[in-house]
Amino acid sequence: MTTTEQAISLEDQYGAHNYHPLPVVVAQADGVHVWDPEGNRYYDFLSAYSAVNQGHCHPRIVKALKAQAEKLTLVSRAFYSDQLGAYEKFMHDLFGYDKLLPMNTGAEGVETAIKLCRKWSYEKKNLTPEKATIVVAKGNFHGRTTSIISFSNDPVARKNFGPYTPGFSSIPYNDLDALEAALQEKDVAGFLVEPIQGEAGVIVPDEGYLKKASELCQKYDVLFIADEIQTGIARTGEMLCVDHENVRPDIVILGKALSGGAYPVSAVLADDNIMECLRPGEHGSTYGGNPLACAVAMEALKVIQDEELAENAEQLGEFFRDEMKKLIDETDLVNLVRGKGLLNAIVINDTEDSDTAWNICLKLKANGLLAKPTHGNIIRFAPPLVMTKEQLADCVSIIGETIKEYEEVEA
Ligand SMILES: Cc1ncc(COP(=O)(O)O)c(C=O)c1O
Repeated sequence: MTTTEQAISLEDQYGAHNYHPLPVVVAQADGVHVWDPEGNRYYDFLSAYSAVNQGHCHPRIVKALKAQAEKLTLVSRAFYSDQLGAYEKFMHDLFGYDKLLPMNTGAEGVETAIKLCRKWSYEKKNLTPEKATIVVAKGNFHGRTTSIISFSNDPVARKNFGPYTPGFSSIPYNDLDALEAALQEKDVAGFLVEPIQGEAGVIVPDEGYLKKASELCQKYDVLFIADEIQTGIARTGEMLCVDHENVRPDIVILGKALSGGAYPVSAVLADDNIMECLRPGEHGSTYGGNPLACAVAMEALKVIQDEELAENAEQLGEFFRDEMKKLIDETDLVNLVRGKGLLNAIVINDTEDSDTAWNICLKLKANGLLAKPTHGNIIRFAPPLVMTKEQLADCVSIIGETIKEYEEVEA
């Protein structure tokens, strides 16, 4: 058996240091729990950045994965498969878009949406060739490719990775005046936005922002592109986060929990007038739309529906934020709780560059709950959506006790 110590030292020695994990090794998982090699059990409050909304190793998803793996895993798109069309129809029926373009990772989905938007703008909107601009929001996180980090304003994500891809303009998040001004500029093709900024620290825009933003996009004939990679698939209490405001984006990007954490699956959804801009040979991926991904994604989404996980996220989210508000009244260490459904964060009362949030996460780990700071002093809490109220109440106690313990020791 590989011990915690051995596993960490192997990664340290042989793996690139492009992450800074909490010092815990996960060797096994089931539902809302994970175990380290020594058999210690933890509640998972990150859910692989909201990829395991259906809970770890969901038996139905694992069964679908195994069954498909024994039949057919990959054909590439050189041939048809018996799974892809069925999956595409399933997604059409569920989300109501004419067409789906299958990819693997979230960043690939975002890249696909950018290419699609640019092509649409030249072929349908007659923008000046090669001059299209996509408006993005400050504080965004859409992935790690060269083009995507080109419109990030996080210095850590950008520094020394230039030259950067042109064609993006950045405005403050949750600012409709700034959006309208940006949309009036020449050659604007799209507005790419997270319905809640997850990595930035679960920044929830004002009610009505998404609705108004989509109306502005319509007014200026600009594509409204929703990156639902983290917020989608029931995480915020609706299948898509934009559903809270009855918004229908022109392009939706999905990833993460589309497979329930069993496999990398992402997708771009759009109607024919947009999707028909892509013709054979113009875009693709060897693994995109592979039969294993299709079978897993269909089952992962059926689990969301059958187990009413959006409803559960909505109800438990309310409970969680209420409990955190009570905690805030009892401690000076936490300033704020915010979120929607089961995508929440607390803001620790310390400077942004302090390591207080990290140290609290270490203590949470010692008390059996795994969470991680997003940015500086913000801790994101995003458990699997299969959590029960009793389990969440247990977690609320762990969080409360840990915060109070920390406060006492530091005082
Ligand atoms: C909103 C959003 N978009 C895109 C991505 C990138 O997804 P991936 O890491 O699968 O490339 C993430 C990942 O955290 C995300 O939260």
